[in-house]
Amino acid sequence: MRLLRCCLLISFILSVLPTHAQNDSGLTIGFIQISSEHEWRLAFTQDVKAEAERRGFKLLYADQCCIQESGIEAFRSFIEKQVDAILLVPVVETGWTEVLQEAQNAGIPVVILERSVAADESLYLTRVSLDFVNQGRLAGAWLAQETSGICHIVELKGTGGSQAALERQTGFNDVIALFPNMRIIASQPGDFMKEGGKAAMQIILDTVDPAEICAVWAHNDDMALGAIEAIKEAGLDPGDDMLIVSIDAIPGMLKAIAEGDANATVELSPHMAGPAFDALADYFAGKTIPKSILVWGGIFSSDTVNYLSFEP
Ligand code: AHR
Repeated sequence: MRLLRCCLLISFILSVLPTHAQNDSGLTIGFIQISSEHEWRLAFTQDVKAEAERRGFKLLYADQCCIQESGIEAFRSFIEKQVDAILLVPVVETGWTEVLQEAQNAGIPVVILERSVAADESLYLTRVSLDFVNQGRLAGAWLAQETSGICHIVELKGTGGSQAALERQTGFNDVIALFPNMRIIASQPGDFMKEGGKAAMQIILDTVDPAEICAVWAHNDDMALGAIEAIKEAGLDPGDDMLIVSIDAIPGMLKAIAEGDANATVELSPHMAGPAFDALADYFAGKTIPKSILVWGGIFSSDTVNYLSFEP
């Protein structure tokens, strides 16, 4: 009887509380994303939208379409609308100081998400991201271990001037510099896009003897997946004739690893919205926020992907 009363009381309390989605915080957040061109970024956008809804925030979404000027325009329109906070994913590092200053003058806190800005850190509240150099190092260390430090590598580079491309390259090069028989024999830009990676790989296969290539190192999975297509079309066996290692751990790449077409990918977690909104909540509650909040990511290879399910 006591138990029944206790259960009834719990259901009563739960029934009178609003759900998270109904609990409208009254806050409007402007979110400026780089683009919606591929799998990883779509998952990231989805995470921000879901997390905003869960917390009852009104989210205004803007897509830079990979062009910084569009991002700056969206940023200024959010200031004009007097949003409560701005989440910015910068397409490139430089050129943001002026608008960050404008936001600060307007009293609008800015959270930088994922990639960084080359601006004084007093101009933004915090940055939620990951260690891109470490991602490159992880990829390089995996390859060094896999090849016993003997490997001729071709590199597919991400967007020029983006922190993700620059630092992943630095991290990877840090590692291979430790091995005299590991070196980059060709390098082509692919702009983080599948078509870009495919075109870059086609150029490489036209100019380098495939027998010389031990591994393809791509700055992201989309380019790696494009390269896999190019390698197959050239009558070669990706994952076997040449190892494929990249970054993001999108489902398509994990599947390619499970099927033997690719070999390893470093995880880039798309779940950065939770820590970003927590930081904003703390800020509005008057708490001090750290300038950098890191999210974690591991590495997947054929040893681990077989435990995953690829069903939707
Ligand atoms: O900035 C991170 C990179 O951007 C991701 O690895 C890539 O997929 C995206 O375009």
